[in-house]
Amino acid sequence: MTQNVYDHEEFFAAYSQMDRSLHGLAGAPEWPTLLAMLPSLDGQRVLDLGCGFGWFCRWAREQGAAAVTGIDVSERMLERARVDTDDPAIQYVREDLEHAQLPRGAFDLAYSSLALHYIDDLGRLLAEVRQALVPGGALVASVEHPLLLGPRRPGWNVDDDGNTSWLVDGYLDEGIRDAPWLGRRVIKHHRTIETYARLLREAGLTLTDLREWGVTDAWLRERPDQEHERERPYFLLFRATTSELEVSA
Ligand SMILES: C[S@@+](CC[C@H](N)C(=O)[O-])C[C@H]1O[C@@H](n2cnc3c(N)ncnc32)[C@H](O)[C@@H]1O
Repeated sequence: MTQNVYDHEEFFAAYSQMDRSLHGLAGAPEWPTLLAMLPSLDGQRVLDLGCGFGWFCRWAREQGAAAVTGIDVSERMLERARVDTDDPAIQYVREDLEHAQLPRGAFDLAYSSLALHYIDDLGRLLAEVRQALVPGGALVASVEHPLLLGPRRPGWNVDDDGNTSWLVDGYLDEGIRDAPWLGRRVIKHHRTIETYARLLREAGLTLTDLREWGVTDAWLRERPDQEHERERPYFLLFRATTSELEVSA
């Protein structure tokens, strides 16, 4: 069952204070990498899965997208997205991506930033996305990296010499993780990189780019006490496309 933790009052208040909530794409350190994976948006019909406050939806329109649909299950997130958006070509829809049915051949680009790891039946959603894309369309997405999300007992280890390491256990044991975040136990779904690749393939999507984002020197310069974050990747980013020749089935 979908947790919809973003509609929880205190969680929402805490999430709203994060850099990416206050500053949008500029506050998301992985954004430059994701940006490099995107096609030109000029004239494109764009779908944003788990659109949150709608930062990407508005940016896509600034890049010339013809129309943007943002889907999210959280009424609070969408409420702020609507307040911050003054553009009839952006439509926000409240829907649970666990069950959403998407219109056939309606989009050139599907985008999703840090939402797909909340989805249990990702295979079903990817199949929906595939049939919602035109031939030659693309899905560009980010998820929490499986090495970050996967451990059963996430935590840092500091040895006697002061060396810090991120302990990874349970990597191959896929399924629910509910580590505390922003004061709540947040349900996410851990899957291996192999499983992400397989689910894309089974949905009829061709993986064309895969990147593992870790903290950058620029990020660390502003947070010198976070040097240990170099020890693990943070986000997994991928692009997958439908075949140019294929007719949406
Ligand atoms: C970490 S936020 C990311 C928001 C936005 N994509 C961004 O990058 O700023 C995750 C978003 O996914 C949404 N979400 C989680 N599970 C969902 C589901 N089952 N259906 C639709 N949206 C979902 C949440 O409500 C939240 O807005």
